[in-house]
Amino acid sequence: MARQLQLTFTFDVLESLAELTPAELNLLKHAQHATEKAYAPYSGFLVGTALLLDDNSVHIGNNQENAAYPSGLCAERTALFGLSALLPERKILAMAVTARRKSEELFIGATPCGACRQVMAEYENRQNSPIKILIQVAPSLFYQCHSVGDLLPLQFSRENLLIKG
Ligand code: THU
Repeated sequence: MARQLQLTFTFDVLESLAELTPAELNLLKHAQHATEKAYAPYSGFLVGTALLLDDNSVHIGNNQENAAYPSGLCAERTALFGLSALLPERKILAMAVTARRKSEELFIGATPCGACRQVMAEYENRQNSPIKILIQVAPSLFYQCHSVGDLLPLQFSRENLLIKG
């Protein structure tokens, strides 16, 4: 029988807003606020992301849709690409992600899609320090992950391209 490897990862499960630290709550509020400017006329699903940077500032993003559906972009990548274009030297300490349906106030949450995880991993590798991820997965349920690497095991990275430095 082939040798087997098992990968496990541990994350925190927070079952109410009261379990978040003030800093986590503040970042989540920025992500929730960011849903207000999402452009999602086709899905009606508003996603907001907030990035906490190493100078303690916050950079946000939201999903931007398009009549040619695949041309749209998720909130996480909108935030990350925007930040990298503007302030490429800043390190990201943490990222919060949430979502709600248009015309509804309740945040039902969303977990980052696979393509966003790949982009998140790129920036985590580039800055060489972990990005914590706070994901709202239901109105009163949050997952706190310690790094993007945990969310994307066996990831494709620059090492696969044999690029050094
Ligand atoms: N969406 C995000 O913004 N982030 C995710 O991680 C999942 C999905 C957006 C894309 C699209 O605008 C809408 O949610 C419905 O899929």
